[in-house]
Amino acid sequence: MTRHFLDLSDAGGDALAAMLGDAMERKAYRAGVPKGAPDGDVPLAGHVLAMVFEKASTRTRVSFDMAMRQLGGSALVLEAGSTQLGRGETIADTARVLSRMVDAIMIRTHDHAKVEELAHYADVPVINGLTDQSHPCQIVADLQTIIEHGKALPGLELAWLGDGNNVLSSIVEAAGLMKFNVRIAVPEGYDPDMRYVSRAREQGARITLSRSAQEAVAGAAVVVTDTWISMGQADSAAKIAAMTPFQVNEALMAHAASDALFLHCLPAHRSEEVTDAVIDGPHSAVWDEAENRIHSQKSILRWVFGQL
Ligand code: CP
Ligand code: NVA
Repeated sequence: MTRHFLDLSDAGGDALAAMLGDAMERKAYRAGVPKGAPDGDVPLAGHVLAMVFEKASTRTRVSFDMAMRQLGGSALVLEAGSTQLGRGETIADTARVLSRMVDAIMIRTHDHAKVEELAHYADVPVINGLTDQSHPCQIVADLQTIIEHGKALPGLELAWLGDGNNVLSSIVEAAGLMKFNVRIAVPEGYDPDMRYVSRAREQGARITLSRSAQEAVAGAAVVVTDTWISMGQADSAAKIAAMTPFQVNEALMAHAASDALFLHCLPAHRSEEVTDAVIDGPHSAVWDEAENRIHSQKSILRWVFGQL
């Protein structure tokens, strides 16, 4: 059966743990190797990944391309606006055609249902490179970063500040699979997707919701935030005003554990959701997190091809 990666649950906890192990092993192997040089075992030699973008991207685009190169394959970018998809060719027909031409498809788009439809009609693996609903690839990199910084996932206390968005949904999903706890502090009207919260709670994760940034961060081992205005959302003064008490600044970080990590998927909006002092400060692991997009995506790619 074709393996798709539309959300972390498509893989499940055991496969996710295997991906994290593989990502860390391959990362260690690459120390000092030029970034474009292939891994010795070239496990995806001859494979091509098509990347469909209906939203902007820096990290996802570059990291998938570099991941494919390092695995011995290659990637091609399809900007939806310059393809027939942008002129109304159906997702189903696009899926059928791409399945005859490439070995896997990554798509970044707005509507999650579009990714599900693509996967339904594709004969090759489909990977969710971010939708309005979730961003699973990002969270594999985040978990790798947390572990590399010496923190075990089971029982970990992670605080999320700001918007109840797509990145949060995937963090909450990961919490259910890997048994850690998420303290969410968001303003009223910006609550997380409760489908992910309910499922994670059923799986035994403690997911709390509060309106107090300080309460959520108190003693937390990891503090995470993201842009207040995600791609495709209207930039509204009212939303920025509601989010302002949830800014991650030094005063707020002082309430976290003394060795707390700060994570942000990037791009950051400095002086909005996070201050320079925090993102450039001693708690920040955001550059490791960005680099880990390559290592973790190599493992996601190996998983969809049945190698993990
Ligand atoms: N974090 C992330 O997905 O970054 P890009 O939007 O640059 O791909
Ligand atoms: N929540 C952000 C993440 C960007 C990587 C967005 O969807 O725009």
